[in-house]
Amino acid sequence: MEQRFENQTALVVGGANGIGQAIALRLGQEGATVIVADVPGESEAGLRVCREIRSMKRQSDFIECDVRESSQVNDMVLALDGRIDVLMHVAGVAKLVPFLEMDEKHWDWTLDTNLKGAFLTGRAVAPLMVAQREGRMVFIASTNSVDGEENLAAYNASKAGVAALVRTLARELGVSGITVNAVGPGLIRTRLTETPPVDDARYVERYRIPMGRIGEPEDVAGPALFLASRDAAFVNGVLLYVDGGQMA
Ligand SMILES: NC(=O)c1ccc[n+]([C@@H]2O[C@H](COP(=O)([O-])OP(=O)(O)OC[C@H]3O[C@@H](n4cnc5c(N)ncnc54)[C@H](O)[C@@H]3O)[C@@H](O)[C@H]2O)c1
Repeated sequence: MEQRFENQTALVVGGANGIGQAIALRLGQEGATVIVADVPGESEAGLRVCREIRSMKRQSDFIECDVRESSQVNDMVLALDGRIDVLMHVAGVAKLVPFLEMDEKHWDWTLDTNLKGAFLTGRAVAPLMVAQREGRMVFIASTNSVDGEENLAAYNASKAGVAALVRTLARELGVSGITVNAVGPGLIRTRLTETPPVDDARYVERYRIPMGRIGEPEDVAGPALFLASRDAAFVNGVLLYVDGGQMA
């Protein structure tokens, strides 16, 4: 496999499971030192990802961090030893709740995790990248950044916010040699989407997915790594859909 990230340090926030795990493993395969961060409750899963990366003869460590807490986010970045080439901000939550049943607790949980978490991580990492005069930030947005899928009002609002944050950071940080982009996955098979269980054929038909299937975490890892690679040096502020053509 190509070693596009040799001698680079990557931080994957929300890297213990699903899409983040696939991204972390792929970064390890391509030569990066990979720091995996996730909530304390996922430390076992996170450590498993790190062990797999170390088995590839790459360095990897796990850091406990709840992205809703600025002190934990700041401590996570302090633990990086002053160098970060790639930030992959993946952490996120989603739960189907009809709007008429949506309470403040659900709204705050979703927005605090998905949007405030992205802000806090970006804010903590940016000064390091500005000092380096280079860096790549990739945030996981969603097709729901644009599509108003039912029963996901808080989630859709949070992901629209992530897309707006990315565009703004692209403008503000681009002058410092930093690119900021987003990946917008469609439906990807992870534990986030396993309840209620997905009926693949129905989903494909309902959302008219030209590729005729839903996605796997590995489908997202390649495009995310492209945005973090030198090939994407002049790609800044985009939302790259990875959805089998759903948004076409
Ligand atoms: N699966 C999909 O269909 C899909 C589609 C579009 C976007 N996304 C986005 O992709 C990202 C990854 O989701 P996934 O499908 O891999 O789900 P997942 O549940 O498998 O992974 C999400 C990870 O984020 C972590 N996380 C949750 N809250 C956190 C917090 N407060 N602090 C730190 N980490 C936290 C979880 O512990 C988990 O490891 C999310 O941002 C999600 O919104 C997923």
